[in-house]
Amino acid sequence: MHFDLSEEHLMIQKAAREFAQNELKPGVIERDEHQKFPTEQIKKMGELGFMGMMVDPKYGGGGMDAVSYVLAMEEISKVDASCSVVMSVNNSLVCWGLETFGNEEQKQKYLVPLAKGEKIGAFCLSEPEAGSDATSQRTTAKDMGDHYLLNGTKNWITNGNSASTYLVIAQTNVEAGHRGINALIVEKGMPGFTVGPKENKMGIRASDTHSLMFDNVKVPKANRIGEDGFGFKFAMKTLSGGRIGIASQALGIASGAYELALAYSKERKAFGKEISQHQAIQFKLADMATKIEASRLLIFRSAWLKDQHLPLDKESAMAKVFASETAMWVTTEAVQIHGGYGYVKEYHVERLMRDAKITQIYEGTSEVQRIVISRSVLA
Ligand code: CAA
Repeated sequence: MHFDLSEEHLMIQKAAREFAQNELKPGVIERDEHQKFPTEQIKKMGELGFMGMMVDPKYGGGGMDAVSYVLAMEEISKVDASCSVVMSVNNSLVCWGLETFGNEEQKQKYLVPLAKGEKIGAFCLSEPEAGSDATSQRTTAKDMGDHYLLNGTKNWITNGNSASTYLVIAQTNVEAGHRGINALIVEKGMPGFTVGPKENKMGIRASDTHSLMFDNVKVPKANRIGEDGFGFKFAMKTLSGGRIGIASQALGIASGAYELALAYSKERKAFGKEISQHQAIQFKLADMATKIEASRLLIFRSAWLKDQHLPLDKESAMAKVFASETAMWVTTEAVQIHGGYGYVKEYHVERLMRDAKITQIYEGTSEVQRIVISRSVLA
């Protein structure tokens, strides 16, 4: 059992840390406040290879392992979780889904520009009435011979407007239940496809979350991923690995807040000494550090399983539920340690606390993770 990071891992971690501190930190408060999508920052992340980290270099990716991806996600999320969600969806849902299950033509046409960061992708599963209960898809993809006719609405779609390529899950054969669902590649600009207004969110406010409307959109059969009826399994398998990305985001949010609280506790004085000298604060810091480290180990194990192509449904669900609950708890404690300063924007921790909440909701709520874990332990 090795716990050491390789030289290459350390280099990637350093590069991501420097990029986040130098390029993302300036402006992060303003982007959050004004819900300004980080167009320039995402472009640079693409140039640095952060948008298709695990994709085979022959498709324009970085050919890196999942541990490298976790390290980069943590560093970027420490500073700007709005940027890291764009990165996570592009890497672990869209690029991974296309590379693993797409055919060669789809990879050349769609994966290459996504992996190079020239285009952004979106993963479209959630609907007004199908969030956790993902088999209850109302969006339909009617088989018309050489194409599908796509109708319906998707909700809360990350990269909803900034994306060019959308992986859309839709029901083709209602009688067949989840075996009648397909995954289709939809391009922005296809007639009948419109992007709804941007959601005004609590956290990750600089990322663009939209509803999407499909009104008789003609999607060529060539854009179906996998065999007819593979769409639900495609979504489940993709989300299973994708949860490592959101767990890493939660880890970064937690460790970012912890580092700020630790530094603040050594500067701020109360009752004649630094607050870090008071046991009430020391115990908080000890619990924060412990929970963060436990999250990190669960995430590294899931990433290792992914790199070995081993089953990881239970482990990635454990990593996500633990890391996201840790992020919510740690960020709340970080605000508490900062006292009144924690409640205002300049000190960053209030944003991290707002950003933490979504990690318990998207790519499967904490309740969904517990369903996945309990089914596995009871099987
Ligand atoms: N891998 C492969 N197959 C899987 C699978 C997996 N991880 N999970 C389920 N399946 C298969 C099952 O084997 C079953 O197939 P068979 O009948 O052939 O055996 C089929 O899928 C149906 O599975 P279940 O009966 O377990 O389905 P269920 O209705 O009970 O739901 C669930 C299970 C875990 C709750 C699932 O619906 C789920 O994960 N829901 C949450 C969806 C989600 O994460 N939504 C987030 C949206 S994406 C997002 O947030 C992206 C973003 O923008 C940030």
